[in-house]
Amino acid sequence: MRLLAFPLAALLLSAAHCLSPSRIPRRALLLSSAVILPLGIRTYIHGPAPYAVPPLPPRTVVVTGANTGLGKETAARLANSGARVFLCSRDEARGRKAVEEVERGIPEGSGGSAELLLLDLADLGSIDRAAEDLKKRTKVVDVVINNAGVMAIPEFSKTKDGFEKQVGINHLGHFRFTKDIFPLLAQSKNGRIINLSSSAHNIGTKASIEALSTPSAESYTPWGTYGQSKLANVLFTDELDRRLKSAGMDNLSAVSVHPGVVSTDLARYIVKNSDAPLSSLPDASSFLESATASVAKFFLRPVDRGASTQIFLAAEPDLRSRGGEYWTNNKIGKKNKVAEDKELAKSLWEQSEALVGKFDVAKK
Ligand SMILES: NC(=O)c1ccc[n+]([C@@H]2O[C@H](COP(=O)([O-])OP(=O)(O)OC[C@H]3O[C@@H](n4cnc5c(N)ncnc54)[C@H](OP(=O)(O)O)[C@@H]3O)[C@@H](O)[C@H]2O)c1
Repeated sequence: MRLLAFPLAALLLSAAHCLSPSRIPRRALLLSSAVILPLGIRTYIHGPAPYAVPPLPPRTVVVTGANTGLGKETAARLANSGARVFLCSRDEARGRKAVEEVERGIPEGSGGSAELLLLDLADLGSIDRAAEDLKKRTKVVDVVINNAGVMAIPEFSKTKDGFEKQVGINHLGHFRFTKDIFPLLAQSKNGRIINLSSSAHNIGTKASIEALSTPSAESYTPWGTYGQSKLANVLFTDELDRRLKSAGMDNLSAVSVHPGVVSTDLARYIVKNSDAPLSSLPDASSFLESATASVAKFFLRPVDRGASTQIFLAAEPDLRSRGGEYWTNNKIGKKNKVAEDKELAKSLWEQSEALVGKFDVAKK
């Protein structure tokens, strides 16, 4: 409704100008359009109001990439409402800082808690160690939010195990982590696997998924590969959900998410060509940089709204019968046609297994 107000206001102004050009002169019309248009765009990008998390029953949640951005916001809101949350971070100092910040916000008596789990998705050894560590600390995981991600790395680069980095971290790392912690997820009565994708999955192509195992510096483009990794997130979700259903595991479901275009540290490679979060780097140095940052902040979706869909999927009590969908703005969104290709999803699964190990979806 709020969104309709802007085009309606523009329409009314234009109509008033046509009917009475002397009362609403052209300059006033242009001036008000210059205000109405950006506000309309901003309202559209900002999306719905933040989701209010209900008090949660005892629930163990694991969030990857939880030291900043959407992951930290998600961890904080779920812990505040009573969940036991494991915040995964690849960097111990950044992770501890985030855990302390989340802990400080947890209301007394809510039952929520925050703990650090060290996890570097660019290193299979680290993924296995994180899963082992988790198994010592809990018998069950109700929700895993595979949230960590990197975007548009300018150069072709590799993870510790030799995978192209965007696909290695965004998809293969999460595939291996989900496989490793699957015995804990299988214990949940109403478990969810929530995979962060993006509308950028639309950039991904069938050919790029078919060629996932054979990346090359020659075929690498920063955005094409980001799109490939985000399409892989949607296809992995669908195939996992299908396998859960055919294994009769109706206690678990898998969904993917586009959070909107959110003001986080994700643009680090574009803004500073840095592997470290923007928030850990010195502020913009020139006037142009600060002005660009302020304009971006004005238009981009705030993180509390951006994290809402994944928080909603983790916290809403009645999602059990669903699965395999691509969610955005707290509702089911429209995925690209390529992302509906079941054969492609199966091929991705088989390639991922060949690269990082067999993932047996079965009741234990
Ligand atoms: N922001 C958006 O507009 C947007 C839009 C669509 C989709 N998404 C998706 O949302 C997810 C969260 O992104 P964000 O916007 O919150 O970005 P962010 O602020 O940059 O957070 C990304 C998180 O991923 C972690 N990470 C990066 N490399 C890792 C690795 N090798 N191992 C483990 N963790 C690693 C980062 O840790 P460090 O801080 O230590 O690097 C950070 O905690 C991503 O999957 C992204 O693709 C975001």
